[in-house]
Amino acid sequence: EAVCSQCHLPTNFSPENHTFHDKDSEASKCTTCHMPETTYMQVDPRRDHSWQIPRPDLSTHLGTPNVCTSCHEDQTNEWASESLAKWFPNSKHQNQQHFAVAFYAAEIGYQGAEDALAYTAQDNTQREIIRASATSRLAPYQGKNTTVALARAVKHDSELIRVSAVQGSAGFEPKDRWQILAPLLEDKVLGVRTEAASALVVYWSELNEQQKQALVKPLQEYMEIQEFNSDRGFGRTNLGNVYRAQGNYEQAIKEYKGAIAVEPYFANSYVNLADLYRVQGKEPQVFSTLEQGIKAQPKSGALRYSAALSLLRQGKNSQATQYLQQATEVEPDNAQYWYLYGLSLESTSVPQASKALDRAFRVSGNPQQLYARCEMLVKYSKDPSIEFQARQCITELEKYAPPEVTKGLRAKL
Ligand code: HEC
Ligand code: HEC
Ligand code: HEC
Repeated sequence: EAVCSQCHLPTNFSPENHTFHDKDSEASKCTTCHMPETTYMQVDPRRDHSWQIPRPDLSTHLGTPNVCTSCHEDQTNEWASESLAKWFPNSKHQNQQHFAVAFYAAEIGYQGAEDALAYTAQDNTQREIIRASATSRLAPYQGKNTTVALARAVKHDSELIRVSAVQGSAGFEPKDRWQILAPLLEDKVLGVRTEAASALVVYWSELNEQQKQALVKPLQEYMEIQEFNSDRGFGRTNLGNVYRAQGNYEQAIKEYKGAIAVEPYFANSYVNLADLYRVQGKEPQVFSTLEQGIKAQPKSGALRYSAALSLLRQGKNSQATQYLQQATEVEPDNAQYWYLYGLSLESTSVPQASKALDRAFRVSGNPQQLYARCEMLVKYSKDPSIEFQARQCITELEKYAPPEVTKGLRAKL
């Protein structure tokens, strides 16, 4: 309170005017509402330093936590929202626009997400970390507003915003991505130019001499950083990725194997090594590498998922289904695992496939996965029990999809 009151007048932020809880109680402390605590890594409680305003109205729509119901556990978000409406009838915060809506829209694959993110990325009333986060979330898009947001980001004074354009431009064709990111190769901040170099070296085989020349210095710096970190799996894996991009497969394999030797439980090294074997057409080695990884790191869904993809390429479908099932068991919050598991079950059991696809949608909230489930059920709707499920599915889809989509599905029943 003493710190806050240096700038925020205590008379304005008193229990009568602002906190509306008993004086000197926990619920009346500035930090309680504006810096709530979250426990990270199960053992590390930390207070939120972004100093947000409690927004139970957002929780109603997005399922975000809010400090009010963290104490008033028996009350609803609507109740908290109504209490705030009484306390702050002229609020300029409640029911107002918020970046969380744009982030949420992107998570569930909502159509308007790209424009909402591009807007947030350029909104100079937002803090840098929010703008940078919005910029990097533009990765799946390539529209006009995304292009403008990225072009502005690479010129921004904040290095946090500049570096976010590296990830944010991931959806562009190599030629266009080069054009967006090239200015960052000469950035004054080491971390920015090396990140740009590591993203652009991936297109090595398509670059002209002049472009390769522009990469030399920042790539050298990037390699030095990874050499410094070569006692860790990620450092050597990053080195391997550069050698792979430059077509030096032998050296890449050496680095990946070195990564496995120094950090056997780091799943990424196996995934990258296996993927290089895939490019070389060595499918048996792909699979044995992933098997070795699963033994060393049983909790990784990515390794089982990659092993399943390898089995699918070899036409071993039922074995692939087993690995996908295991992937969903070790990482039940990964929608992509549930989705592919569901698709792989289609030929053996439609009800089971439907269950898995439903789980994918529940985890991600992405209506495209709900659509995939409805579409599959419609395909098998000659069976009356499946037709019943298909109708239920389409009714739910109506909440998210335009009428012509659900009409089209109904017509096929
Ligand atoms: C050095 C001065 C200073 C101190 C100390 C300070 N603030 Fe602020 N605070 C500001 C200014 C300036 C703003 C921005 C006002 C604006 O944007 O209109 C602000 C804004 C806020 C906001 C609104 C943020 C938003 O999203 O609109 C909250 C909440 C807040 N402060 C809480 C606190 C708390 C809690 C403390 C003590 C831990 C604290 N402040 C300490 C100066 C300060
Ligand atoms: C019980 C929860 C609670 C506590 C405790 C609390 N606040 Fe707030 N604070 C809020 C809410 C809710 C708002 C948004 C009010 C609105 O919608 O107008 C807010 C808004 C603010 C704002 C932004 C004001 C504006 O007009 O934009 C500042 C600054 C702030 N609080 C500072 C403080 C300080 C300083 C303390 C400690 C003395 C404090 N708050 C304690 C809930 C709390
Ligand atoms: C640290 C725990 C805590 C937090 C956080 C908290 N409250 Fe409370 N709240 C209490 C306690 C304890 C009481 C009863 C004593 C008092 O008024 O301080 C209370 C009383 C109330 C009351 C009046 C009694 C009732 O239940 O109708 C309302 C309304 C209320 N809180 C709303 C809110 C809202 C809205 C927020 C979020 C901005 C909030 N509270 C955050 C602990 C908390």
